[in-house]
Amino acid sequence: MSDHSSDDRRPLIPGQVASWISLLAFAAAAIIVLGVVFYRSRPATTSDSDRRVAEKALREDTEAKAQALLKTPARNADGTYRITITQAKAVIAADPKVLEKITPPVAATMSSAFVAADAETLKRGAAVYARTCIACHQPTGKGLPPVFPSISETPIIVGNPELPVKFILQGLMGPITVNGTTFNSMMPPVAGVTDQDIADVLTYVRQSFGNKGNPVTVTQVKAIHDANAARTTPWTTAELGLK
Ligand code: HEC
Repeated sequence: MSDHSSDDRRPLIPGQVASWISLLAFAAAAIIVLGVVFYRSRPATTSDSDRRVAEKALREDTEAKAQALLKTPARNADGTYRITITQAKAVIAADPKVLEKITPPVAATMSSAFVAADAETLKRGAAVYARTCIACHQPTGKGLPPVFPSISETPIIVGNPELPVKFILQGLMGPITVNGTTFNSMMPPVAGVTDQDIADVLTYVRQSFGNKGNPVTVTQVKAIHDANAARTTPWTTAELGLK
């Protein structure tokens, strides 16, 4: 009688085993089909070797691998990191969201909704512009090709503020193509500006001349300034990976 309860647990019969196997087989087939569909719908990459590099980076742990790829191959003289265009293209092509995972500050700058600067900041920024940039980049922001490049709708001016802050602090030299025109001159370090001036002028430029970039804060400028305080010579486009 006490054995009666054990009869409730029915033993596995061959029919059940068979249905489990077919269920597993169906699941495996579904996974393979979905995998192929997913693989084929990924964005096309530039070449097979690019794709192999990217896939290798992404196979185990997207974030850690991609970070390693972005950090190990080449270090600039100032200790910042860069990678080859091929590697960057490969990683980004294989996982368009990789930038958000690796560089949250850049992604935040580029993807967050537009924030208009307040009138007071823009006024201060315009004054700094008139004092420090206008002679070369002109009242229109369009520069004077082929000597002074435009800072109207250029990727650098609305991108991560790190580059413009570096240029203002230490200057920039070397060949660089801006909106289709190649320049090979030098921007000298801008003298007599505080971190607040730099934040204001960049905020002003990022919201003038057709540019639509979010405000730059004095905290951001100070962090970039501190990180590069030891630098005394102008940045070269080559070391920054600019072309
Ligand atoms: C004496 C002239 C001069 C002044 C002043 C100057 N620049 Fe430049 N700027 C240049 C030149 C020349 C280049 C290109 C350097 C090269 O060929 O490598 C440049 C490049 C740049 C670039 C990168 C390329 C682009 O067009 O996007 C930015 C951004 C920039 N300047 C912003 C500024 C800002 C902001 C100020 C004022 C705070 C300023 N510059 C002041 C001459 C100047």
